[in-house]
Formats: sequence, C-alpha cells, structure tokens
Amino acid sequence: MRPQAPEGAPRQPGALKLLSGDANPELAAKIALALHEPLDDMRITRFADGEIDVKIAQSVRGADVFLIQPTCQPVSENYMQLFIILDALRRASAGRITAVMSYYGYARKEKKTQARDPISAKLMADIITLAGANRVIALDLHADAIQGFFDIPVDHLTAEKLLVEYIRKLHLPNAVIVSPDVGGAKRVGDVARLLDLPIAFVYKRRPKDDVVSEQRVVGDVDGMDAVVVDDLISTGGTLVGVSHALRAEGATSVRVLATHGVLAGDAVEKLVNSPIEEIVITDSIPLLPEKQHAKIKILSVAPLLAEAILRVHEDRSVSELFK
Ligand code: R5P
Repeated sequence: MRPQAPEGAPRQPGALKLLSGDANPELAAKIALALHEPLDDMRITRFADGEIDVKIAQSVRGADVFLIQPTCQPVSENYMQLFIILDALRRASAGRITAVMSYYGYARKEKKTQARDPISAKLMADIITLAGANRVIALDLHADAIQGFFDIPVDHLTAEKLLVEYIRKLHLPNAVIVSPDVGGAKRVGDVARLLDLPIAFVYKRRPKDDVVSEQRVVGDVDGMDAVVVDDLISTGGTLVGVSHALRAEGATSVRVLATHGVLAGDAVEKLVNSPIEEIVITDSIPLLPEKQHAKIKILSVAPLLAEAILRVHEDRSVSELFK
C-alpha cells in the first residue's frame, strides 16, 4: 500500500507506467500512443514445461502501474499471465497496480444456474485481488454485479457512446434498436434513448449453454432497419438466430453491434453467411487476421481506456466521462 498523504493534502501519485501482457498488444500500443506514454519493457517467456515467467525490465517501485491484459482467448493462458505479472509487480513494490481488463473472461459464469455450478467470475475476482491488483478498469462487463465481486475499486466503463455515434452516422431512415435477449434490455434502452429511437427485443430460450432453441421478436420491426446491440458475440448463434427472426418479422435490414468480438470457433463464417449486413465490434479483444472480413468493422476503445487511465492516475472523476 502506498503511504497515505496527510488529510487534505493532495496525494502524490507515483509516475504513470503502462505495461502490457500478450493478450492485446495492439490495443496497448494505441492506449500508449493516446497517452503519449511509452509501454514499459516486460519479457514474458516460458520454462521448458510451458510455465510462464515474467521479467519486468525497469524499476516500478512506487509507480502508478496500469497493466493492460484483457482475458480473452486463450482465456486461461491470459488469466495466468495476468496473475503472474500482478504478482511480479506487487513484489517489485509498485505503488499502485490497476488491471486494465478491456474484456473480462468468465464474466458469463457470474451465478449458479444449476446445482453444483461454480461462480467462476467471482473466483477470478478473488485471484486478481490476491495476486496484487489494487484497482480494476473493466469495460462492458456481461453482468454489472461483477463489479461487486471485488472489494477493490472497479471502474466499469462502457463503449455505448461509441456504438451510439456509429449508429447515428448510419443515418438509417427507419431504425429500431433491438436487444437479442431480455437481459440486454437495459443496455438497448440506454442506446435507444440516446438516439431517440424505438426498441424491440427478442425472447431467447437456452436449453443448454451455447445452444439457443427459441427466438421470438417482441415489438414492431416490420419495414424497419434493425440494429441489434449486445455486449458480446461468442459463437454467433444468438445473433444469427436473431437476424433470421427479425427478417421473418419484416425487418428490411439487420446490423449487429457488440463491444466484445469473442468470435469463437466458426462464428465469423456463421455471421457473414447470415442475413446480417454488418457486424460492428470494438478492439477490446484482438481480431485475428484469419477472422477479418469486409462485413466486420472495428471501433477502437483505446481513446476511452486512455482517458480513464489518465483520470484514475490524476484522481479525477471517471463517471464524468459518461455524462
Ligand atoms: C447473452 O446473454 C449475451 O449477451 C450474448 O448474447 C451471448 O453470450 C452471445 O453468445 P453466442 O454468440 O454464443 O450466442
């Protein structure tokens, strides 16, 4: 813990330092560019048996360190890197350590849905804290409750404004904002309110994880340009099903926007071969070259994360960013 400044006196944060694990170096580079700060040297190597080793090149003693490491695929590998780098930073006497997680893996396992289920999102929160994080910056967590899984401060950012600006620039004559499930209704309500557009939602039933059995449109989409907003696209099953349901109800076009392009397995193939005209995601997760496609557009969350890092470093409000 950094020493406390006397009450009333401005706190002197250590120097801002940026570090990146292997999960999303492109995003880390963009954040560094936006902040006009270098990324500190850190070597992540392997022992012969595959175990991870970390060497932080420069001193971080007393520094205000921001470690950029979303826990996207390969999820377990990226989590292990996160834990081990946090441990190294803590043992190197960093003044304060913030884990910048533009994507939080295991966020969809945030509650028990069946007997004897784990709550993996809570377990990850516990280990992140135990490993050495003093704060977390997260982006569009699948469930808001995850913020409360931590006993350290979590700044929960949203890419909603970015998506809203994108939709606004489409100048769609007759748009409706659609939630792909009841759980996303609040997110879609916020987006629709900012754009002053009507909403619809799709009733989705999942008999098993990763299997969607029923999708029924609730609300009027006939003759309208449907813009579906979700937090993430994983297998693509939800959104492909939604696109068919929307077209069957008379929607003239279907676009999908989501913060996190997890795009597991053959998701891209399924999405581009569906009635979806355009897929818009952010760079919270890197999109591998083999998954890139003309139908997929990427918006950068680097300016948003950079601004949040600066505000945390300077002890300024982060919530003001979203007013
Ligand atoms: C569900 O609650 C989420 O918001 C996403 O709609 C869902 O997780 C996407 O998964 P998939 O792409 O595998 O259908």
